[in-house]
This record gives sequence, structure tokens and C-alpha cells, in this order.
Amino acid sequence: MENKTKPAGTAKFELEGKTYDLPVLSGTHGPNVVDINSLYKQAGVFTLDPGFTSTASCESQITFIDGNEGILLHRGYPIDQLAGQSGYLEVCYLLLNGKLPNQAEFKTFAREITEHTLLHTQMDRFFEGFRRDSHPMAMLTGTVGALSAFYPSSMDSADPEERRLASIRLIAKMPTLAARVYKYSIGQPFVNPLNELSYAENFLRMCFSVPAEDYKISSTLSKAMDRFFILHADHEQNASTSTVRLAGSSGAHPYAAVAAGVACLWGPSHGGANEACLNMLHEIGTIDRIPEFIERAKDKDDPFRLMGFGHRVYKNYDPRAKVMQQTAHEVLDELGVRDTPVLKVAMELEKIALEDDYFVQKKLYPNVDFYSGIILDAMGFPTEMFTVLFALARTVGWVSQLNEMLDDPTQRIGRPRQIYTGEAMRDFVPVSQRS
Ligand code: CMC
Repeated sequence: MENKTKPAGTAKFELEGKTYDLPVLSGTHGPNVVDINSLYKQAGVFTLDPGFTSTASCESQITFIDGNEGILLHRGYPIDQLAGQSGYLEVCYLLLNGKLPNQAEFKTFAREITEHTLLHTQMDRFFEGFRRDSHPMAMLTGTVGALSAFYPSSMDSADPEERRLASIRLIAKMPTLAARVYKYSIGQPFVNPLNELSYAENFLRMCFSVPAEDYKISSTLSKAMDRFFILHADHEQNASTSTVRLAGSSGAHPYAAVAAGVACLWGPSHGGANEACLNMLHEIGTIDRIPEFIERAKDKDDPFRLMGFGHRVYKNYDPRAKVMQQTAHEVLDELGVRDTPVLKVAMELEKIALEDDYFVQKKLYPNVDFYSGIILDAMGFPTEMFTVLFALARTVGWVSQLNEMLDDPTQRIGRPRQIYTGEAMRDFVPVSQRS
């Protein structure tokens, strides 16, 4: 990656009577950054920013979010245009390569992804070690990590061809793995990929086809699935992506770094929110119980939060949530389940929360997970599978960001500092002399 930040002035940092000059850098969009790289060397102090609320961890040219305006761009293209006019594999190409493919490039790319969808048959043995009731994310974390054992040459991250191949393989094999996770959990035989189908169609078929009856592909559902994948493809330096970058910064195997990302995504504050959100909508159950849950969300002494609301970066409507809402209506219309209690609760909850002072003042808007669970549930996925689908879609973001980092000449192993507040240095006391 060619570093492209531009000088944009100097910040003065004052400490104990001394002033230090720190470079200010600008990017294409977004706030400028103060480069504190030399601060410790110059002034002998660290900065403290738990949760990285004010700290940029890297330069990136992949995705841009303006949380105040509710803007999300991939390589400069707005997410609503990509979700409306592009397809997931084209977005994968864009994220990986920095530009939209021409027809020939797309054909080659799509073909290559299709050719790598099969798993080594030994991989299936891993599943047998899991209990059937294992959480699907536990199985996915384990099996993505296990894939690294099958591709030792991918460890050579200095070789661009190895990196390209690892990216293709991960994107291609993730649907096969995710579908196997689902099939294993319900005790049905695995379904192998079918190359004549699109990425989303193939995934749906691997999940829902059974030996006794093939899966009838609905274009509305496969389009919705493809859109779900696009909307979750990348989201700049979120927790799981930062985890992949951090794991990869040591030179770890790329599949192992992605497995670390899968593990991080699992949590309910991140990818697990779609599962938690649908569970919450079921728990609310009926419209008349909404005020009770809104009050609980506002109560400082109650740990309950309205799942699917709020975001670290978006202080406006999540642009992905808008597309998800429209897609939810299309899917429910297609399936003829328009007036489900869950959808009624979701729509009313959204309306009430958007007018409530607490949510307005704290700028808590629906995020992507608010409607995605409704779509996946209507399609027939159990809630425990929701985060697996998020992981599948996010794989391209993880590998694009990992590759970008490995290509960055300023890249070093990620190694945060700390402020130590533990015991001061003291002498060891043998056990016989301890009171
Ligand atoms: N319900 C009620 N109050 C909330 C909520 C919520 N969903 N989200 C934030 N708040 C309050 C929070 O209590 C805090 O109040 P105060 O300032 O009085 O202490 C204030 O809003 C700021 O919240 P925060 O926890 O400091 O914000 P954060 O940036 O650390 O957390 C978040 C962001 C997404 C973890 C949080 O909004 C949340 O827990 N939301 C519910 C879970 C969820 O939907 N997560 C999916 C995120 S989108 C998918 C993804 O990108 O992974």
C-alpha cells in the first residue's frame, strides 16, 4: 500500500514546561489525526485511550464511515449504491482490489471463487468432535482455525500470490463451512457446493437442501441473502477487524488471524447483536410491553440495553439499517408472513425509540442488526446461526484489511502500551514465612 496521508499542520503538546511538536495529518475524508508515534521517544509518556475512542490504529484505503452523517463508503462507493446495484462478489473484488472489475476481470474472479468452494474431506472429521448442541460460532471459530493446517504455504505472507490465493480460498470456503456448521447442528447430511449457482444461491442450497428434497431457489431470498452479505462485508476498524490486524501483525497464518476475528465477532456487543436483538423482540412479544422495555433500557441500574440500537461510530441512522429494513419487507412479502408479531414489535419499537428523549439525546439509532435478524429468521435460520452469517460476509473485509496491513510499509507488530497500577516492586517471601 502506498501511504497517502498529507501533512496538515502541527499540534503542540505541552508537558512539565516543555513543548513538543506533533505532526497533524489529513486523509481523504474524516477528521485529521495527530501523529503521536514519536511522543514516547520525545516526551517519555504514553497516551491512554481504552476502547480506542480517539485513536486511529492505522492508515486504510478500504472503507470510510462518517458516523454523524450516516455515510458508509467502500473504496469511495456509497453502501446504498452497492447494495442496490452491485452484487456481493463484485463488492468482494472491489474491497480486495480497490476498483470495480470490468466484465472479464469479474468473470475470472467469480470463476476462481467457485473453483475453491470445496473443503478437504478431512475437514469433515473435525465436525464429528463437536457436540451437536455446540454453539455454531464455537464450531466456526474452531474450523476456520483448523483450515490453516491444510494450507501451510499461506504462512508465507511476503508472497503476493500466496496472499491472493488465501483470500480467494477463505471467501470461497466460508459458505461451505458455515453451511456445514448449520447442517451438523441439526443432524442433517452435509450438502456440497454446486458451481452453477451464484454465491448466495449456493449457500442457501447448502443450508436448506436435503437428500429427500432439493431446495427451490427464490430470487427474492437469494437477492436478500446477497444484500445481507454486501451490507456486512466490511466496516473499517471495528473490533473483529482490529483483532484480525493485530493477530496478523505478528506474521500469524492468515486463516488463524481470521479465526481470531470470528471469535471476536461472537460477542453480543458486536456480531452477536443480531441474535440478541431477535431474542429481545421475541421476549418483548407484544406492542403493549414496549414501554416497559424502553424504561428498562433507560434505567442506569438495569444492565438491559435495547439490542440493535446504538453504535460506537454512527450517531445517526445506520445506512445499512435502511437497506435492511426495505429488504425485510421484501422477504416477508415473498414468504407471505407480513404481519408477524416480531415485525410488528420491531416497527413499533423503532418508532417509539426514535421519538424518545433518552434515545434522541444519546443519538441511539437502529443499527444493521435491528432488521437483519428478522430477515434471517424468516428465511429459516435459527438465531444461533445469525452471527455465523455475519462472519461469512465479513470474511472479505477481514482479508482485505489484513492484506492492506501486510502491504503497508509502516506496518509493525501491534503492541499497545498500558498504565500500570498494580503492586509496586516488592521482594518474594517463601511460603513458610507468609502469614
Ligand atoms: N440501549 C440503551 N442505552 C444505550 C444503548 C442501548 N442499546 N446503547 C448505548 N446506550 C447508552 C449507554 O448506556 C451510554 O449512556 P451514558 O452516556 O448515560 O452512560 C450511552 O448510550 C453511550 O453508550 P456507550 O456504551 O458508551 O457506547 P459505545 O460506543 O461504547 O457502545 C454499542 C456501542 C454498540 C456497544 C452500544 O450502543 C450497545 O451496546 N448497543 C446494543 C448492542 C448492539 O446493537 N450492537 C450492535 C452494533 S452494530 C453491529 C456491529 O457493527 O458489530
